[in-house]
Order: sequence, then C-alpha cells, then structure tokens
Amino acid sequence: MTEQKPVSDKNAAKVTLPDAQIVQSVTHWTDRLFSFRVSRPKSLRFRSGEFVMIGLMGENGKPLLRAYSIASPSWDEELEFYSIKVPDGPLTSKLQHIVPGDEIILRPKPVGTLVHDALLPGKRIWFLATGTGLAPFASLMRDPDTYYKYDQVIMMHTCREAGELEYGRQLVESLKDDPLIGELVEGKLLYYPTTTREPSEHMGRITDNLTSGKVFADLGLPKMNAEEDRAMVCGSLAFNHDVKAVLESFGLREGANSEPLEYVVEKAFVGDGI
Ligand SMILES: Cc1cc2nc3c(=O)[nH]c(=O)nc-3n(C[C@H](O)[C@H](O)[C@H](O)COP(=O)(O)OP(=O)(O)OC[C@H]3O[C@@H](n4cnc5c(N)ncnc54)[C@H](O)[C@@H]3O)c2cc1C
Ligand SMILES: NC(=O)c1ccc[n+]([C@@H]2O[C@H](COP(=O)([O-])OP(=O)(O)OC[C@H]3O[C@@H](n4cnc5c(N)ncnc54)[C@H](OP(=O)(O)O)[C@@H]3O)[C@@H](O)[C@H]2O)c1
Repeated sequence: MTEQKPVSDKNAAKVTLPDAQIVQSVTHWTDRLFSFRVSRPKSLRFRSGEFVMIGLMGENGKPLLRAYSIASPSWDEELEFYSIKVPDGPLTSKLQHIVPGDEIILRPKPVGTLVHDALLPGKRIWFLATGTGLAPFASLMRDPDTYYKYDQVIMMHTCREAGELEYGRQLVESLKDDPLIGELVEGKLLYYPTTTREPSEHMGRITDNLTSGKVFADLGLPKMNAEEDRAMVCGSLAFNHDVKAVLESFGLREGANSEPLEYVVEKAFVGDGI
C-alpha cells in the first residue's frame, strides 16, 4: 500500500473545471485497485450506498464521466471513492495517476438502489460484494443508521486474491476505534472476507458459501430467511445474477426505492471482462 498525503489549503482553493473537486489523498492498494478522497461540494446531500458520476476532462475537451459509488458515509466532510485500474480503460487509465491537489469532475446528483429505504425492516442485513462492489458498503458500514436498523450486519466480500481484500479489511478494522460509530459496531458487525484463487482463512464464492450453509455455520447464524434477513448485492453482472437466484431460493424478493422488499441489487460495473 502506498499513500499520498492530504493537500495544503493553497491547493484547496484551486477550482477551475465545471463541478470540480480537489483530490485530498490517494492510496494505491494493489496494481489494480486504489482509493482516493476529494473535497465535498457543500450542497451535496446523499444517502449512504448511492453513486454519482465522476471523471476527468477528456482530450476532446468534453468531460469523461463514469458511475462511482460513494465509499464514504453521508456524515463525512470529504468524499471517498474506491476504484479499479483498467489498463486501457478510457477513464481509469488516467484517473489512476491523480495526486493530491489535482481536480476531478463530480456531478452532484446521487442515485442508486442500495439504500435502506428500499428494504423492509428486518433483524439482519447482509452486504454481499465482489471486487470494487465493496464501495457502497464501505459507506453503509460507516453509517450509524445501519446499526440502528439492524441487530446484526454481515459483510461478505470476495475477491480472487488476498491483497484485493485489504481496503475492506483495514476499513472494518478501523471501525471499532471510530469515535462516532465504534460503540454501535461492537458485536454487531460480522465480517466474512473470502478469496477464490489464493489461500486465505475463508475461501470460496459467496454463492457457494450461502448455498452450502458454511457461512451460517461459521458465524453461528440461522439459515437466511425472508422474515428476518435483508440483503444488498453489488458485484459483476454474473455475480449479481447468480446471487439473486440464491437469495430467491431462501424466499427473499427483490425490492426497490418505490417498493421496499427483502433485497436490492446494483451493478459494480458494466461489461464482463477487462
Ligand atoms: C452503478 C455503478 C457504480 C460503479 N461504481 C464503481 C466504483 O465504486 N468503483 C469502480 O472502480 N468502478 C465502479 N463502477 C464502474 C465504473 O463506472 C467504470 O466502468 C470504471 O471506472 C472503469 O472505467 P474506464 O473508463 O476506465 O473503463 P470502462 O470502459 O468503463 O470499462 C472497461 C471494462 O473494465 C471492466 N471494469 C470496469 N469497471 C470495473 C470494476 N469496478 N471492477 C472490475 N472490472 C471493471 C469491465 O469489463 C468494462 O467493460 C461502477 C459502475 C456502475 C454502473
Ligand atoms: N483479479 C485479478 O487479479 C485480475 C487481474 C487481471 C485481470 N482481471 C480481469 O478483471 C475482470 C474483473 O476481475 P475481478 O477479479 O475484479 O472480478 P470477478 O472476475 O468478477 O471476480 C471477483 C470475485 O467474484 C467471484 N465471482 C465471479 N463470478 C461469480 C459468480 N457468478 N458467482 C459468485 N462469485 C463470482 C470470483 O470468483 P472466481 O475466482 O471463482 O471466479 C472472484 O472471487 C475479469 O474479467 C478478469 O479477467 C482480474
């Protein structure tokens, strides 16, 4: 992990792009993953779990924007994002080189389905993510509402390799010392990271660990059921498709902002490969 430190106040005053925000810090987690924090527009209100369009000015003079989940909680003074680096990706081939003091474009219109309002009340909430699909849950895990609404919060995150779990692992580790939510999280947040292509403490796909019942046994929880359990899903299209079938097999139904039910889904990206 390499970290680039916060910028000085001098840089914070420099705003020239339309909807520009200033990069405050950047952390590179692996050669494919990085996170960064930017200044927050004073007028921006969002619900934890939502996404916005962010980007850079393209070489043609037009903004090059992509959807990004806000990884920071709604109470944070800055905004945090967790990003892939696609080697030939139009945006991330450039975005991966930002440093503190640089400007990015941020359209302040948050939207999304991974919000508490889209679920009926329940006893447990399951956050199910692969890869950068962790981002909306990095926000929701830091939101006090998550712990007011549920007795238990289970974060299942699966990546191919252990290094790809590190952003989430350090974030979860930091929560118990957080002055705002440390006490709320204590004993309520159950973290279940797994890898699929490199040995680690827990292995296997989320779908397999749910259908086999392994995760319920490991965490001492009852089998998932529609009366008590709620779920939010964020991963590749293939993951979302397969995990939906698993959730439906437990009796959960897909909800939306307009019709809250037992689970909701959001794409972590469009397309099926880099
Ligand atoms: C609702 C929504 C929320 C999103 N939130 C995030 C986020 O928080 N963090 C993030 O990194 N990306 C997120 N994305 C993906 C993001 O919008 C871009 O696709 C990504 O930044 C790559 O942009 P690009 O222009 O470099 O390449 P693109 O042309 O956009 O993508 C090229 C290819 O790279 C692959 N790819 C793209 N994004 C990812 C990814 N995140 N993980 C694995 N493979 C990927 C896909 O196969 C895609 O076809 C989100 C997408 C959607 C639809
Ligand atoms: N991760 C890397 O090191 C790496 C490096 C270079 C390029 N890429 C490319 O980048 C793209 C995205 O890679 P990614 O690793 O971010 O995402 P990914 O391929 O979606 O894999 C992320 C995790 O989700 C699991 N998964 C994938 N499909 C699933 C499904 N249908 N049901 C349940 N679990 C599922 C994977 O398990 P499995 O391992 O069992 O599939 C893996 O643990 C891929 O096209 C890949 O070829 C990845």
